[in-house]
Amino acid sequence: MHADDLKQEIRKLLKQRNAVLLAHNYMRDEVQEIADITGDSLALSQEAAKTAADVIVFCGVHFMAESASILSPEKTVLLPRLDAGCPMADMVTVPQLLDLKNQHPGVPVVTYVNSSAAVKAVSDICCTSANAVKVVNSLPDPEVIFVPDRNLGQFVAKHSSKVFHFWDGYCPTHERLKADDIIRLKKENPDALFICHPECNPAVSALADHVCSTSGMYDFCRSSSAQRFIIGTEAGILYRLRQENPGKEFLLASPALVCPNMKLTSLEDVLQALQTLSPVVKVPLETAIPAKRALDRMIAIPR
Ligand code: 13P
Ligand code: SF4
Repeated sequence: MHADDLKQEIRKLLKQRNAVLLAHNYMRDEVQEIADITGDSLALSQEAAKTAADVIVFCGVHFMAESASILSPEKTVLLPRLDAGCPMADMVTVPQLLDLKNQHPGVPVVTYVNSSAAVKAVSDICCTSANAVKVVNSLPDPEVIFVPDRNLGQFVAKHSSKVFHFWDGYCPTHERLKADDIIRLKKENPDALFICHPECNPAVSALADHVCSTSGMYDFCRSSSAQRFIIGTEAGILYRLRQENPGKEFLLASPALVCPNMKLTSLEDVLQALQTLSPVVKVPLETAIPAKRALDRMIAIPR
């Protein structure tokens, strides 16, 4: 089917099914183009919590669909590609986290949303890259356990006086960006600002003019008087950055900044999900109830 016909068919089925199409900022351009809402992990989880639709089609990776299912248990949550996972989320398991908790009794666990529902269920509060500093600093405790992302953890620790117990997880995509790439690019483009995601290695973040979540990048680039930007996050972000800032120039900091999981979902997959109302992601209640507590505590903290 031609792309325009596919898009038309998807829009028609979305209406028929009373469905909403959510897409993460890293999705393929054509998927972002037809989405009802695009956003970062925080915006999408807030949206999933309040939408009136019967069906949520989540164009993202598995943990995001799990969060939507936890926050909207009465809705059908579809993940068009069930094989779209997040390697970082798989880097910490429940037994590993329970073991870490045993080593630090009474210390609250702050869990990045890039984690499984089961790990969230044994956590005290969740965070995203957009609110991690606020979440950690909202806790009265002097110490925190932070899982799974060691890079985001170290970034937050720089903005907090608490003692951190980190986990050694990381995003393989952001980890591929090296400080040498940035030093070279900055030399070649002295007028460009370098902006990166906190999932980048601390040596990379240290070179940044601004470190923020994907949605934070849209806000920063829109309001900045600079005309050229070096972007240190997944390539999918360029679609909206270029659309929203036609006069400005955006350079991807490395061609390696492509997350294979975020690139899996095609328009054909979205159409098939709507036609078959599958694959469904449904978190069982015994996990969803405690995981929701950790997500709700996060959502209650203003952005
Ligand atoms: P944010 O949109 O929350 O910045 O997410 C980054 C990410 O890696 C999601 O997989
Ligand atoms: Fe996971 Fe990194 Fe891909 Fe995000 S970009 S889904 S953190 S592997």
